[in-house]
Amino acid sequence: MRNMRMSLAPRRAVAALAAVLLAGSVAACGNSDTGASGGGDDKIVLGFSQVGAESGWRTANTNSIKEAAAEAGIELKFDDAQQKQENQIKAIRNYIQQKVDVIGFSPVVESGWDTVLKEAKDAGIPVILTDRAVDSADKSLYKTFLGSDFVKEGRLSGEWLVENSKDATGDVNIVELQGTTGSAPANDRKKGFAEAIAADPKLKVIASQSGDFTRAGGKQVMEQFLKAHPKIDVLFAHNDDMGLGALEAITAAGKEPGKDITIITIDAVKDGMQALADGKFNFIAECSPLLGPQLMELAKKVHAGEEVPPRIETEETTFTQEQAKAALPDRKY
Ligand code: AHR
Repeated sequence: MRNMRMSLAPRRAVAALAAVLLAGSVAACGNSDTGASGGGDDKIVLGFSQVGAESGWRTANTNSIKEAAAEAGIELKFDDAQQKQENQIKAIRNYIQQKVDVIGFSPVVESGWDTVLKEAKDAGIPVILTDRAVDSADKSLYKTFLGSDFVKEGRLSGEWLVENSKDATGDVNIVELQGTTGSAPANDRKKGFAEAIAADPKLKVIASQSGDFTRAGGKQVMEQFLKAHPKIDVLFAHNDDMGLGALEAITAAGKEPGKDITIITIDAVKDGMQALADGKFNFIAECSPLLGPQLMELAKKVHAGEEVPPRIETEETTFTQEQAKAALPDRKY
């Protein structure tokens, strides 16, 4: 009613101001990829806040989400948070302001989400967590979590090492490249691995530091490890990319990866699988990034008000060098 009483000039000024404010706030969120605003037609509008583009896994995950949205006829608003929590919070607030139908996001770290999730809940917008979990005590703040069991991935990695170190004599010195500090995969993989190797007291983690899930981070931290520790027997990297970065540091130090230093990683993206098939890695626990189709199904369901399970786990496997050789030709990402 108030709008109808406005003369044309003030209405134009208000519209222009709103457009400027919206453009400013979207631009402040990092790399946004926004289509037409929601509500134009019957399409479900999904606002998705992605962690970043830190790894091959993440690129495959982003592609899976974009392709699946197009296939499912869902309008996707996509924001790359460049691994910053504040960017994700801004993106989610934008999606609330734009009144999207569903919000999906992969939280860069586990803590600090309650306020913004409550804002989404109060606005009546269902939230789906994908890939990484949050530590909110109030589970009603989101509808479901779709992703991997990261503790299991760490445990499977540790169990392979226990099995393959049986004949070793003396201490087995392990260095660990952790993922992003405070992230669910870094916390959980560390925990699962530590629990598994506790079965054999000669397996000792002598250094553990974050390489932020990137190749550059993996290389840089591995260089430090190699300088500080003359005897490194095993590298456990929380993802392929850090392991691939570490390969460069190991080779530059005159050591042979996969032989002088046993390398265990997580993900099983193509480059990681190639390194495993080439004998440079020794074992990979898979973490599947292909979450797009399931996310779209869930978005349709929660939008329709249907009940969904609180946790949906991705099916995953593990690879030895021989298994990687066999699987590589069909590897999609
Ligand atoms: O959250 C999944 C992890 O994030 C992947 O293992 C890693 O490669 C990515 O950056």
